[in-house]
Amino acid sequence: MSATPFVFSFLILQLLFASQPCHRFLAAAADGRWQLLQKSIGVSAMHMQLLRNDRVVVFDRTDFGPSKLPLPNGKCRNDPSDTALKVDCTAHSVEYDVLTNTFRPLMVQTDVWCSSGAIMPNGNLVQTGGFNDGERRVRTFSPCSTCDWQETPNGLAAKRWYASNHILPDGRQIVVGGRRQFNYEFVPKTITANTFSLPFLSQTSSGTAGWELGRNPVLNPVLYKPDNKIGTRFETQNPTTVPRLYHSTAALLRDGRVLLGGSNPHAFYNLTGVLFPTELSLEAFSPAYLDTKFNNIRPTITAPKSMSGIKYGTKLTVRVVITGKVAKNQVSVTMVAPAFNTHSFSMNQRLLVLGNDKVAALGKATYDIDVTTPRSGSLAPSGFYLLFVVHQGIPSKGIWVKLQ
Ligand SMILES: *[C@@H]1O[C@H](CO)[C@@H](O)[C@H](O)[C@H]1NC(C)=O
Repeated sequence: MSATPFVFSFLILQLLFASQPCHRFLAAAADGRWQLLQKSIGVSAMHMQLLRNDRVVVFDRTDFGPSKLPLPNGKCRNDPSDTALKVDCTAHSVEYDVLTNTFRPLMVQTDVWCSSGAIMPNGNLVQTGGFNDGERRVRTFSPCSTCDWQETPNGLAAKRWYASNHILPDGRQIVVGGRRQFNYEFVPKTITANTFSLPFLSQTSSGTAGWELGRNPVLNPVLYKPDNKIGTRFETQNPTTVPRLYHSTAALLRDGRVLLGGSNPHAFYNLTGVLFPTELSLEAFSPAYLDTKFNNIRPTITAPKSMSGIKYGTKLTVRVVITGKVAKNQVSVTMVAPAFNTHSFSMNQRLLVLGNDKVAALGKATYDIDVTTPRSGSLAPSGFYLLFVVHQGIPSKGIWVKLQ
């Protein structure tokens, strides 16, 4: 399965920012490129979610004092229960547009700190919980160029801070745990008694990766190559110059780059006078698979541009251009669900490696790839996915598809 290295790379990249990898297993490759996209987006990207319009919703927390990004049109948030600032005229959420490298401020009403979420089958981000006045909120963000957060008070049956969410085959989210919550519930609520006990849920009893204690940040991403010989499966990539510690995030983009933001081991926006200042920047990391030396084996999807209404267990055809020599048995179609990222990990991850049914050459450099879609909603809940064609471990740019 040539597709696997690419997708696992992305997952490992996230692990890496959470902990110091064990260096004796690392093979140096000195590949991958870093690009500073924005020196400051005004808020610290503690949470990130890619949407189906190639925009990324970013947020930090409201009880942080003023951010570096004013709210538009003189808007202010009046929140008597906020612990830092009762009237705050700055944003704590932004929408970052990948295609234009621009961002705009968004307005959250209540504290979204260390909250969770997932994309619903209709493409809306439904985010849950947070801290203080945000702990029972359910917030919705629909992808549109002027949309903003919609909030539902008491949308959760229990207070949830640090919960984890996942989409179910029926399109609901399961929201599991949260600090001191040994139970789970479903969003949207479909029954009255919506909390279910899960007594074995627990958290670590000591230790911390964050606050003022973090040291030795890992600057090198690591690619995991499952088909390499044991001992050479982890390949270090070129380092960034921006330390990303506790409260940092990474998200796979449609073009195969990884968007990185955040890092804040402090209780406020501490931009000076500390070892690792609050990070307001956004970077993109282009892993080795995006190197131009692979351009002759890289697939380019020429049709369709996107697809909606894809049914389960049916054949579809994706047309690609590959200019170099094609290894037909090393062509695979993959589907990746856009995950919700916070604390250096992604919840609601899903990767489908579909392989191919047939690769048919249509004249010079053009190929039709037939593939069978996932069998059921248990494998792939209805909703939006990034579809890639991967050839010899090198991915195309993705296209958005909607499975239903
Ligand atoms: C961070 O900033 C806050 C508010 O300005 C300040 O009270 C605190 O001491 C700073 N933290 C550190 C570790 O310097």
